[in-house]
Amino acid sequence: MAISSYDISSANTELARRAGYVDAQWALPAINAVELRRLQRRSNLHATLSTSLWLGLTVIAGFAVVATAWSWWSIPSVAVYAALYGGASDSRWHEMGHGTAFRSRRANDVIYYLACFMLLRGPTIWRWSHYRHHTDTIIKGHDAEIAFQRPPSVARTLWRFTHLQGGSELLLRLVRHAGGRLDDEAKELVPAHERRRVVLESRIMIGVLLIAVIATVVLRSAIPVVLIGGSTFLGGWLVVFFGITQHAGLQENVFDHRLNTRTVMMNPVFRFLYLNMNFHVEHHMFPSVPYYSLPSLHGEISSQLAPALPSTWAAYRQIIGAFRRQQVDPNYEIPLELPKIEGDARPVEIGAESWMRGPSGEVIVGLETSFGLGELRKVDIGRHSVVVGRTESGSLFACEGWCTHAKVHLGEGAVIGEEIECPKHNARFDCRTGEATRKPAKDGLTTYPVTVSKGRVSVHLVGIDSVGS
Ligand code: FES
Repeated sequence: MAISSYDISSANTELARRAGYVDAQWALPAINAVELRRLQRRSNLHATLSTSLWLGLTVIAGFAVVATAWSWWSIPSVAVYAALYGGASDSRWHEMGHGTAFRSRRANDVIYYLACFMLLRGPTIWRWSHYRHHTDTIIKGHDAEIAFQRPPSVARTLWRFTHLQGGSELLLRLVRHAGGRLDDEAKELVPAHERRRVVLESRIMIGVLLIAVIATVVLRSAIPVVLIGGSTFLGGWLVVFFGITQHAGLQENVFDHRLNTRTVMMNPVFRFLYLNMNFHVEHHMFPSVPYYSLPSLHGEISSQLAPALPSTWAAYRQIIGAFRRQQVDPNYEIPLELPKIEGDARPVEIGAESWMRGPSGEVIVGLETSFGLGELRKVDIGRHSVVVGRTESGSLFACEGWCTHAKVHLGEGAVIGEEIECPKHNARFDCRTGEATRKPAKDGLTTYPVTVSKGRVSVHLVGIDSVGS
């Protein structure tokens, strides 16, 4: 049976699963493993400068709102403030949610919660929604973030730009969850052990909004609600403006981000506001690459992608054309000619290396000098697959190769300090203990002792009886 609606009800989820659309293997372009490691590096400096600029501009615009109230100058003041508060916060929410902007996990989380509040998004629900969006991008009935659904309606799309409906729905959802009642989508997305957190977060957010309302009443001034909460509505158009370029008009139910996602060359101002998410195909293919390295990633893999749209206007022309066609034929999707990925959508070269058995049964995986700092190596040993690497402080480690959240190999991930990060949804594990340290992973990894003898690195697969040869 075809999936008839975009609603991520459990019935639709089941249909998508049966159709083989869920947790599929997605196409990846070839990229040099050393280059990928370089691009995955995190920089507190870069993220601090960019975030300070955004927050600094927001605060200055906020002062301007107060200083100009309610003269004609308050119109541009409020417009700028709202665009920064309720518009540019979306890309910060996104990047911090992946945990890739700052090297510091705490810094990512602080800005993530702040941006969630600015957008009226429940932090935990939206984390889980976005994990799903990355697992099953634009899979109908399974991806909760398909914003522009077919057949498109011009009136509905224009209405979205006002953010009156979208903002009201977000606010009502927070109120409902603050009251302890989770909606069906939240129940579908958020695991049971995290649902109390959803309620608590909603209560805190509603509490802060109520303080703004009380301040407005006491001060007899609209400024508190304009500055806190109201600007989510007033700046929401910018979220829609950028968001529509990501996937609108492209193909549904395909397993290749080159067919359902768009990269658009935008001007520097847009790129600052949107935090380089205009390189959206690249981001979906390699979510472990931080926003400041996406232009370089684009340079590395662009020959294997569909040509990027040369401007925001070009993207809108393409989208408007697709919307027109889809009103006549709802099944129309933008056809794209793709360059062939060498070896046909082969996975990233991750430095898989042959191994040999040592005299005591240990598995010799290579010379110690061949493991650089932050290096990861996938080693398949019979039926088992492990990942061997070196942390950024220089310790060698080995652990089971498959992420405990879904079947994705960690050898394609990144080493951040003493942790290994999954390439799919940025879960992290402590390299020394295997403990899961970042969502969405809950269970830890089995780790294996590593020794170095005569310059050779050996892994001791304790507890694994037969590994084949
Ligand atoms: S597969 Fe989801 S975090 Fe690893």
